[in-house]
Amino acid sequence: MNRYLFGICIATVLIAGVKPEAKFNLSEFLVNDAQLGLPAMKVPGDNPITKEKVLLGEKLFLDERFSSTGKVSCATCHLPEKAFTDSPLKVSEGIDKLTGTRNAPTVINAAFNKMQFWDGRSPDLEDQALHPFVNPVEMGLENHDPILKIVRTDPEYVKQFKNVFKIDPQQIAIKHVVMSIAAFERVIISSNSRFDRWYFRGENVLSEKEKQGFDIFINKGRCVSCHIVEYTTALFTDGKFHNVGVGINTVPEDEIARLSAEFLEAKYNRTDVDLKVLGDPQASELGRFAVTRNVSEMGAFKTPMLRDIALTAPYMHDGSLKTLEDVIDHYNRGGASSDSEKINPYLSGGIRPLDLTDDEKAALVAFMKTLTGKKFEKFQQ
Ligand code: HEC
Ligand code: HEC
Repeated sequence: MNRYLFGICIATVLIAGVKPEAKFNLSEFLVNDAQLGLPAMKVPGDNPITKEKVLLGEKLFLDERFSSTGKVSCATCHLPEKAFTDSPLKVSEGIDKLTGTRNAPTVINAAFNKMQFWDGRSPDLEDQALHPFVNPVEMGLENHDPILKIVRTDPEYVKQFKNVFKIDPQQIAIKHVVMSIAAFERVIISSNSRFDRWYFRGENVLSEKEKQGFDIFINKGRCVSCHIVEYTTALFTDGKFHNVGVGINTVPEDEIARLSAEFLEAKYNRTDVDLKVLGDPQASELGRFAVTRNVSEMGAFKTPMLRDIALTAPYMHDGSLKTLEDVIDHYNRGGASSDSEKINPYLSGGIRPLDLTDDEKAALVAFMKTLTGKKFEKFQQ
C-alpha cells in the first residue's frame, strides 16, 4: 500500500472513530464444535435440529412482514450484532415505537433456560415464539393467520417448509413456524469464553485482576449462590426467581396489594396476561408472583445467565441499571439503586450489603467481561 492510500485508510478509521462493524455470520454457528463451559443441551424429541430447519428459522426470525406495520421482526429487538438484544435500549420498542416495560433479554443460550421470559411464564422456546407476534406493543398482529398466509404463498417458504417438514402449503401451521424459530435459537450458543479456557482448561488467559474478580464472585460477593458455576460447566444461573430489589423498590407497599388483586382478576377473566405484563409498568414489577400467585415470589425475576454480559447493557428486567458498575453498586448497597432508595419487604434473603472496596468492585466488573464467548468476542469493544 503506498503512503497516500495508507493515510486515507487511517483517516477513514479515525473519522469513523470505531473499528468496522462486526457482522453476525450464521455459518459459524452451524458447526458442531465443542461447547466448552456449557452442559449438554436438551432438544425436544419432536423437534430435532437440522441445518435446513435452522436456515428456515433464521429467515422467519428476520422477516418483518410478520408484524402489523411490516417493520418489526424478532431481530428488531434481538439484533444478532447486539448479542441478540436491542442494547442500548432500556425497554424494547415494537410497532410504531410502542414501548413495553421490560428489557430484551438475549436469545443467546436461551435454549438452556428452564423457563422463558423474565418471569418464566413460558415453558420453552417453541411456546415463547408464539407470543411476540400477537403482543400489541411488539409485533401487533391480531392473530397468527397473516403469518400463515405469507408462508403458504411465498414460493421460497413453500419450498423450505416442504423440504424441512415434508408438508404441502395448506398444511403449514404456526407450530411449524415456531419449531423452526426454536431450532434456529438452539444453535445460537455462546461458550468457550476466556473464563472457560482458564477455569475449565487451565489456560493462562486471565489477568490477576480478573482472577481476583472471580474470587469475589464466589466468596465475598456471594454472587455464585444464584449465578451458579459447577465443576465442569457454568450457566451462571440457578434457573430460579429472586427479588433483588430492582423496580419493585419504587412501588409503595399498599400499591402492591392493589396491583396484585387487579392482576389476578385480569388473569381470572383471561384478559391477555402478556399485555398486562408488558403494557403496565407497575403490574410488570410483580414479577414471578404474577405467574405463581406465590407471595414469596413478589417482585422476583429469573436469574439471568451472565455470559456475554459485557455486550448487553443496560441491565435487569427493566433495564434500569446502565452499566456493570451500576449493577455492582446496587448489590453492594444490599439491593438498593441509590442511598435513599427504600428496600421492599420481599427482598431475597441472599441480598445483603457487601462492603466491597472500589478495587474489589472494579475486579468484579473485569471478571464479568471475561464471560464473552469466543464467537461474540469480535463484538466486544
Ligand atoms: C418489541 C421487541 C421484541 C420483539 C419484536 C421480540 N422480542 Fe423477544 N423479548 C423481548 C422482551 C422485552 C422480552 C422479555 C419479556 C418478558 O420477559 O416479559 C423478550 C423475551 C424473549 C425470549 C426469552 C428469553 C429469556 O431469557 O427468557 C426469547 C427466547 C425471545 N424473546 C425470542 C423472540 C422471538 C423468537 C421473537 C419473534 C417471534 C421475539 N423475541 C420478538 C422483546 C422482543
Ligand atoms: C439472590 C440471588 C442473586 C444473587 C446473590 C446475585 N444475583 Fe445477580 N441477578 C439475580 C437476579 C434474579 C437477577 C435479575 C433481577 C431483575 O431483573 O430484577 C440478576 C441480575 C444480574 C445482572 C444483570 C443481568 C442482565 O442480563 O440484565 C448481573 C450483571 C448480575 N446479576 C450480577 C451479579 C453479581 C456480580 C452478583 C454478586 C455481587 C450477583 N449478581 C448476585 C440473582 C442474584
